[in-house]
Amino acid sequence: MTTANQFRAMAPYIHEHRDKRVIIMVPGQAIPEASSLIHDIALLQALGLKVVVVHGYRPQLDALLSAAGHQPEFHDGRRITPAIAQAQVLAAAGATRLQLEAALSQGMPNSPMAHARVRVVGGNFIQGRPLGVINGVDMQHTGCVRSIDGIAINRHLDNGDLVLVSCLGHSLTGETFNLRLHEVAQKLATTLNADKLIVLGKHWPTTVDDQPLHELAASDLPELIERIDERQRDALRLAADACNLGVERVHLLNWRQDGVLLDELFTRDGVGTLVYRTAYERLRRAEARDIGNLIELLKPMEDSGFLVKRERERLETEVDRFVVVERDRTLIGCAALYPLEEQHAEIACVAVHPDYQGGDLGDNLLHRIEKEAAHQGLTHLWVLTTVAEHWFQEKGFEKADVDALPSARKALYNWQRASKVMVKTL
Ligand SMILES: CC(C)(COP(=O)(O)OP(=O)(O)OC[C@H]1O[C@@H](n2cnc3c(N)ncnc32)[C@H](O)[C@@H]1OP(=O)(O)O)[C@@H](O)C(=O)NCCC(=O)NCCS
Repeated sequence: MTTANQFRAMAPYIHEHRDKRVIIMVPGQAIPEASSLIHDIALLQALGLKVVVVHGYRPQLDALLSAAGHQPEFHDGRRITPAIAQAQVLAAAGATRLQLEAALSQGMPNSPMAHARVRVVGGNFIQGRPLGVINGVDMQHTGCVRSIDGIAINRHLDNGDLVLVSCLGHSLTGETFNLRLHEVAQKLATTLNADKLIVLGKHWPTTVDDQPLHELAASDLPELIERIDERQRDALRLAADACNLGVERVHLLNWRQDGVLLDELFTRDGVGTLVYRTAYERLRRAEARDIGNLIELLKPMEDSGFLVKRERERLETEVDRFVVVERDRTLIGCAALYPLEEQHAEIACVAVHPDYQGGDLGDNLLHRIEKEAAHQGLTHLWVLTTVAEHWFQEKGFEKADVDALPSARKALYNWQRASKVMVKTL
């Protein structure tokens, strides 16, 4: 094909992608070999895409930790970041980031970056919080994303800047937490309402029975995840979560493939695995047929002690007290309303599947229960919770004494469980 014809063939894709917000997740492993990838990222920017690059630094950190004589420690697949390793975390993240910045600043004549002027910006866009103690193990400076300053990032994108984000989050206490690349990428994509999330890895396109999968509906992923290679599962989970939280397209691309970004975005068939969003959700009253799925949803939270265990027989008699959120025939959230004396009632079993938390489902369930309670003429809504006190506080519940509970409920209060008692006047 002549150059002119190549341009013509690409033109529809250039028009389609202009002004689209794209999050590109670059693992630390890819960075030493990333020079042509960086040229292509700069080209995407020049073609009018609004690009956020989020990078990891796992091998860089492992090397620094081992040079300093620290053994990397993991719990449940997550790195534990002790205070003494903080210097290495900051050094690994900082050096990797600077390496990317330098690569994006190249401009030698006769190189693909000639005349490119990429303005790279960064900042305290990510607020983190400690992951806490997981099954008795203190994860120390390993954190999770608390919030993302989407307004500031969007302002930079609209200004034509490329935003570069490292997997670090600062907390209100002034501490810095080591975050997980997948989580930051997914939250960036959902907060910015990104049009695309591009996940670079080594093992994609995803294959089943040695056949590459080029296009997948997000709703098909839960079943598929069980059947694919272990190394590909994390990325598919990330893709499923991002789509479920509103991202339209997630592209899984192999960074070892030269030109992979351009071949994926500017050709008809692409070269990676595209996951597209299809999901929809429905809030409705639970029915007897939901009991099995309710048990499945609640069991992990009961096992972790967040919720009181409910036997199947009890659920069978109480199922009509529940409202549920259904997405693609899967229950992903629930809440129940139990009448107490007079105009008092208790909201119980508020639960959102961990993959869908942070997407306002908990808020929607609570809103639905409150509306229903108000409709029934109830005036006081009680809740007993062990781990979500602040969440209910932010929804207008106030702390109360066990003694203030309606008497029949107080008689059943489990002192050993020591739940916090809270109430909201409707
Ligand atoms: C509590 C729960 C229902 C919230 O569901 P959700 O869909 O994530 O909630 P929303 O999207 O409405 O709210 C997300 C916000 O609540 C915060 N949040 C989530 N769980 C929290 C908790 N346990 N304590 C304090 N804040 C919490 C999130 O950080 C987020 O805040 P931010 O946007 O300011 O960062 C969910 O975390 C859950 O199922 N927890 C386990 C079961 C449980 O403890 N249930 C309550 C006992 S009845």
